[in-house]
Amino acid sequence: MIYTAIMGHGTVGSGVAEILINKRKMISKQIQNDIEVKYILDLRDFNNLPYSDKFTKDFGMIINDPDISIVVEVMGGVTFAYDYVKQCLTAGKSVVTSNKELVAEKGAELIKIAKEKNVNFLFEASVGGGIPILRPLVQCLAANSINEITGILNGTTNFILNKMIVDNMDFDSALNLAKEKGFAERNPAADIEGHDACRKICILASLSFGRHVYPEQVKTEGITQVTLDDVDYADKFNCVIKLIGQAKRLKDGKITATVRPTVVSRECMLSNVDGVFNAITVNGDATGDVMFYGKGAGKMPTASAVVADVMDCAKHIDARKYLFWEDGYDGYVTDNTEDDIKLYVYAKSNDFDALINSFNSIFGADTVNIKNSYNNELVFITGFGKENDLINKINSLNADEVKIMHTLF
Ligand code: HSE
Repeated sequence: MIYTAIMGHGTVGSGVAEILINKRKMISKQIQNDIEVKYILDLRDFNNLPYSDKFTKDFGMIINDPDISIVVEVMGGVTFAYDYVKQCLTAGKSVVTSNKELVAEKGAELIKIAKEKNVNFLFEASVGGGIPILRPLVQCLAANSINEITGILNGTTNFILNKMIVDNMDFDSALNLAKEKGFAERNPAADIEGHDACRKICILASLSFGRHVYPEQVKTEGITQVTLDDVDYADKFNCVIKLIGQAKRLKDGKITATVRPTVVSRECMLSNVDGVFNAITVNGDATGDVMFYGKGAGKMPTASAVVADVMDCAKHIDARKYLFWEDGYDGYVTDNTEDDIKLYVYAKSNDFDALINSFNSIFGADTVNIKNSYNNELVFITGFGKENDLINKINSLNADEVKIMHTLF
């Protein structure tokens, strides 16, 4: 018999409990061992559930119970989660988590403890919700050196942007809908300001490139500045706006990592990833591009990934799964301004003629552009160039207001 405990009974935790309890027979058959949820840790009362007897408010019950060999952490946040997970691993219990903040900030340390204690620390659900991505990355793509990872990593922002694009819905209404559907974080600022996607690109980059990438090393920008006008202009260029996370390996062994709203050509596959769906393209030196697609948030998709990890732990209770990266260091993540890129530029000036004249002399009249003299707005996509050169040119425009977004063609 394998006994588990679930720490947290929120959106994901309740999904995990439901699957583990309702599908106990099927799961036990697959892992060839009976599995039982013994405790559910939560400070709130849940008296009307068929499994109410399993609730405890006392972490001591879990950590001091030698029967418990697998603990699921789905509380979120770092403070308590870090303390409890560290204690569980140190006590020789395997841990499964969906907590991207925890893994992105403390992953290297927790993996090290798991290795020393010969237990598992698995976190498939921390990236891409229900999409299998971490396991394929370390197992199926193991023969590759990974060059680049590019993806839509946050379901809430993709849902919001999609609502703005397709239904012309304003930002706040779309965010409220995402909250109602259980996609958003408890504090949705983590979604809309890009921190959630940042944590996920940290985990992907750490696994792919072998060293811990910390959130503060990633240049991160959310979607709060994206307006319906930007969405409209992007559409006129046959593009859509997506929050894109990207990490690349450079020739000197360092890496770049960014999260930012990006103007994506409709010819690019990522432009078709709508609603709460996520998609991640991994470029390996042997495979070329491989794409992973599925629901990136929500109760059951995320719970599905958590339970699969629990089952994997149960099947490997005495044999650790290899999932590892080393500590990072200052300067490991660096700016890459050497690639040839195109930028999307929105410029506005009270002196529209002066803006157009400066644009014509700096960029040349043949750049693809939209002139909206009614609003004194000029929007264009630059030709290919180095980022610093393009930004210097943009700064020379005779404009009162400028907004720049990266592009993906
Ligand atoms: N808030 C997250 C998202 C949940 O919207 O992607 C899944 O990690």
